[in-house]
Amino acid sequence: MNPTMTALPPSFQWGVATSAYQIEGAAFEDGRTASIWDTFCRKPGAVHNGDHGDVACDHYHRMPQDVALIKSLGVDAYRFSVSWPRVQPGGRGPANPKGLAFYDRLVDELLAQGIDPWVTLYHWDLPQELEDAGGWPVRDTAYRFADYAALVFERLQDRVATFTTLNEPWCSAWLGYQVGVHAPGRRSFDDAIAAVHHLLLGHGLAMRRMRGMETRPHTYGITLNLGTADPASDSALDREAARRADGMGTRIYLDPLRYGRYPSDIVAELATPFPVRDGDLEIISTPFEVLGVNFYFGQDFAGTDEAGNTHDPDGNPIVRAIFPDTPRTAMNWPITPARFTRLLVRLHRDYPGLPMVITENGSAFADNPDISGFVADDARTAYLASHLAAVADARAQGADVRGYFAWSLLDNFEWAEGYAKRFGIVHVDYETQARTPKQSALWYRDTIARTREA
Ligand code: FCB
Repeated sequence: MNPTMTALPPSFQWGVATSAYQIEGAAFEDGRTASIWDTFCRKPGAVHNGDHGDVACDHYHRMPQDVALIKSLGVDAYRFSVSWPRVQPGGRGPANPKGLAFYDRLVDELLAQGIDPWVTLYHWDLPQELEDAGGWPVRDTAYRFADYAALVFERLQDRVATFTTLNEPWCSAWLGYQVGVHAPGRRSFDDAIAAVHHLLLGHGLAMRRMRGMETRPHTYGITLNLGTADPASDSALDREAARRADGMGTRIYLDPLRYGRYPSDIVAELATPFPVRDGDLEIISTPFEVLGVNFYFGQDFAGTDEAGNTHDPDGNPIVRAIFPDTPRTAMNWPITPARFTRLLVRLHRDYPGLPMVITENGSAFADNPDISGFVADDARTAYLASHLAAVADARAQGADVRGYFAWSLLDNFEWAEGYAKRFGIVHVDYETQARTPKQSALWYRDTIARTREA
């Protein structure tokens, strides 16, 4: 018998996840304005195949059918994100009634089907006007985010119990402002450091605003993408590289959030300071109820580049990621479920007293639908099973993990990879917009049902 069936309790919360830009389409309808992703997608060479989210899965027009699909899987909860430029075009000023009305209908539809709505306020679609004014490296963006959060909260708080602020600030800051492979595509270390701080500040400001407005108690949280950072060898150089990678990937987020300080080893090494003002760290460390963990894979780190150098041309120590020697997904990401267990146990140890929910976990594989659109995705099913077993193992070792959202409900717009990489447990035919549950979706449905009976 599959270990997940006995080891996860009937109270475990099961869900599926998506995000606005990746599925909604209707990019310029009902008053929505451009986000940094609409702009980035139009930069030649930025996104595979020149793909964009103008239509995506057309979820904006197919929402009731998609909620029925979610219902058919028997999940408890649905994690979706709200599009900032749909709700507050341009990122300032009053709400767009038509934009808010969409999420209103979505929430009502979910509740009518007995599905718990999990709102993510920011899944990467910054209004372009705010990027033009400086984006996340600029302090004012944090205040704009809190204003926007208040607009959404005011409208939905009576029916939505769980609000999470940001999805994966590491990606917004590093991929968006340092590496440049995500929107807005800038390449500046200083901008990335400033973005980290202003994202965290925005999280804290938004949470305080929402709590101040609430007419009933809510669960608040933030979602981080977290992995494991192991030294590639036992050498002192590689151990230092792993420490730095862990510092920049995990501790610069969780230490300020939980303990109100940036990690001292990282601060001492950074040439650029975080732009902290008096009182910021108190705001950032405002208590919250749930940590959303997104996990895809763990990595090893080496302190030398392939030529054996220990420092890059700017004088920074090398931190080179090496993928462990395991089977890979279509993203070329290593499959590392044992590291997932290790991550969750470590989070429980280093940041105790914080319930966790897996807000994303899943895999892309090259699917081959049969003539009816059915995909016999053994590899994705095995990925899900092994990672759910990893969660069960972590729970058995004491980690307080209360739920799991599969990424993703649907095949969708996978950012720089466009539509080429399919993460859905439901297949989408982008020509016809037909949705067909894959074998993994049926397995997930049956696993949930069996767990409830246990
Ligand atoms: C995460 C993102 C999500 C999706 C998965 C594959 O980093 O949060 O939108 O693209 O990766």
